[in-house]
Amino acid sequence: MYDKDIIQKTAEYVKNKMMNESTGHDWWHVYRVWKAAKIIAEKEDADMFVVELSALLHDIADHKFHNDDHSVGPRVATEFLESLDVDSDLINKVCDVISSVSFSKGLVPKTIEAKVVQDADRLDALGAIGIARCFSYSGYVKRGIYDPTVNLDNRTKEKDHAINHFYEKLLLLKDKMNTEFGKKMAEQRHEFIEQYLKQFYLEWEGKDLF
Ligand code: ADP
Ligand code: NI
Repeated sequence: MYDKDIIQKTAEYVKNKMMNESTGHDWWHVYRVWKAAKIIAEKEDADMFVVELSALLHDIADHKFHNDDHSVGPRVATEFLESLDVDSDLINKVCDVISSVSFSKGLVPKTIEAKVVQDADRLDALGAIGIARCFSYSGYVKRGIYDPTVNLDNRTKEKDHAINHFYEKLLLLKDKMNTEFGKKMAEQRHEFIEQYLKQFYLEWEGKDLF
């Protein structure tokens, strides 16, 4: 049953744990995913308690920072929820969502709650925020913004740039959305990125100055 107190305690816990992350997985990413997931969950009639807890805990121990170990997230989430006496049935549902969101590559989530959280997570990689996160991540891994001589076919691990990531991932997301509402929102944010890229290439050659 929905318990506002548990949601608030979970939000506090995640906020403290992730406040100082600067790679695009900070507390504010979680905050946005949480808000978006709530809106999508309402439209999809998903279990709001499961969706909110999973959205809050979905990046609590990202596998990329744990030697690609996908079990750390669910384990950390379980320990925390057990400390709040959340019942094990609910904990299992939340862990299920966290696992399917983290295995985002290729697998389509089975439950509506996982579909909702995955859509919310993907929406945060699109639009104005998505662009900001992409450049922020690229700076973190010491990549530049763009190099017209390096594309997806001839890039190397050492020589890559942020704009490639748009074509590698961001522009493909709109066709991977699970829910109707998620799709609609993704299309809007996709459109924004397309416009952004148009302006970017114009400015690159100074063509907007004519
Ligand atoms: P999440 O787990 O939140 O779905 P990721 O961990 O895949 O997303 O990435 C976090 C953010 O960093 C996203 O906004 C994503 O677009 C961006 N990002 C991931 N990989 C790259 C990359 N190689 N170059 C630029 N940005 C990236
Ligand atoms: Ni995320």
